[in-house]
Amino acid sequence: MNRIGVIGGGTMGAGIAEVCAKAGSDVLVLETKQEFADAASARIAKSISRGVAKGKISQEDADAAIARVKVTLDISEFGDRELVIEAAPEVEAIKHDIFAKLDAVVKPEAILATNTSSIPIIKIAAATSYPERVVGVHFFNPVPVMPLVEIISALSTAPETAEAVTDYAKNVLGKTTVQAGDRSGFIVNALLIPYLCQAIRMYDSGYASAEDIDAAMKGGCGYPMGPLTLCDTVGLDICLAAAESLYAEFAEPHFAPPALLRRMVDAGRLGRKSGRGFYDYS
Ligand code: 3HC
Repeated sequence: MNRIGVIGGGTMGAGIAEVCAKAGSDVLVLETKQEFADAASARIAKSISRGVAKGKISQEDADAAIARVKVTLDISEFGDRELVIEAAPEVEAIKHDIFAKLDAVVKPEAILATNTSSIPIIKIAAATSYPERVVGVHFFNPVPVMPLVEIISALSTAPETAEAVTDYAKNVLGKTTVQAGDRSGFIVNALLIPYLCQAIRMYDSGYASAEDIDAAMKGGCGYPMGPLTLCDTVGLDICLAAAESLYAEFAEPHFAPPALLRRMVDAGRLGRKSGRGFYDYS
C-alpha cells in the first residue's frame, strides 16, 4: 500500500498524514472547506519542518515528505487510494456519511480504516457494501511521537484486512501494534478515560488543585503528563465523546462523563486547541 487517503486534516488527521508521508507514502487528505484545507497543509508542513530544526530529518527529506501530501475538498479524488484512514469528528452520523461516500468512490479491494477513539467499528462498517474491508486503526496524540497503533477488527472485518493494516503500521510507519476487540474504547481508552474522568471529579470536588493532581501523577507514577494536562492536550470534547460512548456501551458509573467535563465543553473550554481548558494557554 502506497497511496493513502486521510479524511480530516485536524490534529489527528494531520499527524497521520505526516507519519505516512515521512514513511514515503503518497498522501491525499480530505477537508470540507478551503480554509480548513489551507490550515491542514500548514499544520503538516510546520510539523515536518520542526524535525529539520531538531536534526531529526534532512531539509531534502522534509521537502519531499511535504510534497507527497495533497489536500483536497473533493472526495471523488479518492478513487485510486489503497488505504483510507478516516479521522473526522467523533460523530457517528458524520462517519456513516463519509464511509457511504467512500464506499461509492474507492475500488472494492481498497481498505477503509477509521481512527475513531470509541465508536464501535461495526457501526461504521455497516454504512458500506464491503464491511469486510473496514477496520479500526487507532493512533495516539501526538501521532508523530506516540509509538502505538491499536488495530480493531469488527465482527465483519476480514483477517486479511487487519493483517494488511497491521503490516503497514508496523513495517512502513514503524509503529507498535496491538490487536483489540470491537468494544467501545478498545484497550487504551477503556482504561484511560475512567482515569481522566476520576481526575476531573477529584478536581471538581475541591479535594486537590489541578496542579497538584497533575504533579502527583507525574511524580508519583512516572506518567509523562498529569491527567488534567492530558485532557487539555487530547481535547475535552474528545474526552467527553469517548466517555459518552463508553457509558453507552457498558453502563458502568466509572465511564459516566463528569458534569464539569460537560460544562467545560458547553463553555468552549476544549483545552489547548481553544486556548483554555483546565489551564490557560492564551
Ligand atoms: N508533534 C510532534 N512532536 C512532538 C509533539 C507534537 N505535537 N509534542 C511533542 N513532540 C516531541 C518533541 O518535539 C520532543 O522531541 P525531541 O525529544 O526529539 O526533542 C518530544 O516529543 C518530547 O517533547 P517535549 O520534550 O516537548 O515534552 P515531553 O517530554 O513532555 O513530551 C509528550 C511530550 C510526548 C506529548 C509527553 O508529554 C507524553 O507522552 N504525554 C502523554 C501523551 C499521551 O498520553 N497521549 C495519548 C493520549 S490518548 C489518545 O490520543 C487517544 C485518543 O483517542 C483520545
